[in-house]
Amino acid sequence: MKNFYITTPIYYVNDKPHLGTAYCTIMCDVLARYHKLFGDKTFFLTGTDEHGQKVQQAAEKRGLSPQEHCDELAENFKQAWKNLNINYDVFFRTTADFHKTAVRAALQQLFDQDLIYADTYEGWYSVSEEIFYTEKDLIDGKSPTGKEVQKISEKNYFFKMSQFQQPLIDYIQAHPEFIQPEYRKNEILGFLKQPLSDLCISRPKSRLSWGVELPFDKDYVTYVWFDALLNYATAVGYQQEQRAAEFSEWWGSKDSQVTHVIGKDILTTHAVYWPTMLMALKVPLPKVIFGHGWILNKDNAKMSKSSGDVLNPLDIKDLIGVDGLRYFLVRDIHFGNDAPFSFEGVIQKVNNDLANNIGNLLSRTTNLIGKYFEGKAPGNKDLTLSASLQKTALQCCEDVKNHIEKLEPSYAAESVVKLLNDCNKFLEDTAPWKTAKEDLTSAGEVLHIALEVLRISAILLQPVMPEKMSILLDRLSVTERDFSSAKKWHGISAGTPIEKSEPLFPRVELPKS
Ligand code: MSP
Repeated sequence: MKNFYITTPIYYVNDKPHLGTAYCTIMCDVLARYHKLFGDKTFFLTGTDEHGQKVQQAAEKRGLSPQEHCDELAENFKQAWKNLNINYDVFFRTTADFHKTAVRAALQQLFDQDLIYADTYEGWYSVSEEIFYTEKDLIDGKSPTGKEVQKISEKNYFFKMSQFQQPLIDYIQAHPEFIQPEYRKNEILGFLKQPLSDLCISRPKSRLSWGVELPFDKDYVTYVWFDALLNYATAVGYQQEQRAAEFSEWWGSKDSQVTHVIGKDILTTHAVYWPTMLMALKVPLPKVIFGHGWILNKDNAKMSKSSGDVLNPLDIKDLIGVDGLRYFLVRDIHFGNDAPFSFEGVIQKVNNDLANNIGNLLSRTTNLIGKYFEGKAPGNKDLTLSASLQKTALQCCEDVKNHIEKLEPSYAAESVVKLLNDCNKFLEDTAPWKTAKEDLTSAGEVLHIALEVLRISAILLQPVMPEKMSILLDRLSVTERDFSSAKKWHGISAGTPIEKSEPLFPRVELPKS
């Protein structure tokens, strides 16, 4: 048993949740639910990043205080996640007082360790990314990701990040699972071949007042990324004496497995700034930083608010249901890769895998049990008939666990789909709808097997489709829904009520535009 602590990035509060941000949140929710299913102690964090220039400017425009502005916008995220059945343990907001106090304590510690110094900063700043760039970073006068930059020259405070370049390289090399997938690790090692500069961690209040005031200079606030990254640790008690036990449980203990899931565009801040900050603060590094790919628009570019082509996940949900959307994202995108999104693709997947596969198996099985067995589960005595599917089902449980632990949720779902396919094929071969008329016992044997496969598959797919799988298990009167019960065959005894009802996954048609 582990203490599995998983985090999404905390989203900029100004942006509305969209399919891109929903993607990461859904994936973390699925992973957290799987770890709970396996019996791990699990903690799932998401939240909003609320300081910085963009927020200050947007609040000013609306004639609101930045805090009022943030309070209102954070609700958009909470509401969206509620609609997508996201079961987080904490919704973290960087404007929480305990967080600000903890950030100041961390800064003071670095200052006392002589790891922060004042200097004049001259360079370029991208407001939209809240990131400093040097002249050599710019491409055609813009940031490497194509954002507008402005020239800046001012006194600021710097964290001696450069001192930690070699220790970070050594750490990455000694811990191959630290940055995943492997190609992202190689990107970071490539980046670290260039000398690492120190990190500017302040903003003068004359230019930006919406931030955490530096403990050693009241004319400055903390750079938003420095404040935001610390959220992962302060959320579980870091720099809070009264929460020390909690912090060591989630962060420091040998059982704790801190897993940060982020998009590939924020890899450097997470895989370079964050670990060097932790090294300097003498805090253990997270176990895994996983950089996923992007949901792409129809032009194969990142779907983003600034390009104006974001899809509202709730519109897709209205078409295929929350669980359909969750299933599609888990099953269709290999975690780590970029993926184009289209309504045609999503509908095809949902019809193939859900309506035609699991949905069809459920309707066939429950209809036949309704028709020939008065809605009661038949028993099973012929173990040779079930041997092959029983073996596949057990293997499927192992595969799901292994794939989830290796952060390969698409393969986990695939192995359940394979089990369901095998069972549908078994039904085709044995045709209980024909045999029932002459030999009710052998039709019952077959249907018992189908019920078992449905039960096991539904338990294994609960993290992906919590609502639909709960309905399915209700229809089969299954009460034990934990991982160990999935590993046992014969979970549905003879005579158990089996409900026949309307299709669990009705086929979806593309709306006419
Ligand atoms: N506030 C920072 C994160 C601080 S974490 C200490 C931030 N916020 S963000 O709102 O701009 O982006 C958050 C996440 O959304 C990133 O991981 C980013 O990759 C992800 N996505 C935004 N658009 C996306 C897609 N089109 N596809 C997949 N993920 C995308 O950065």
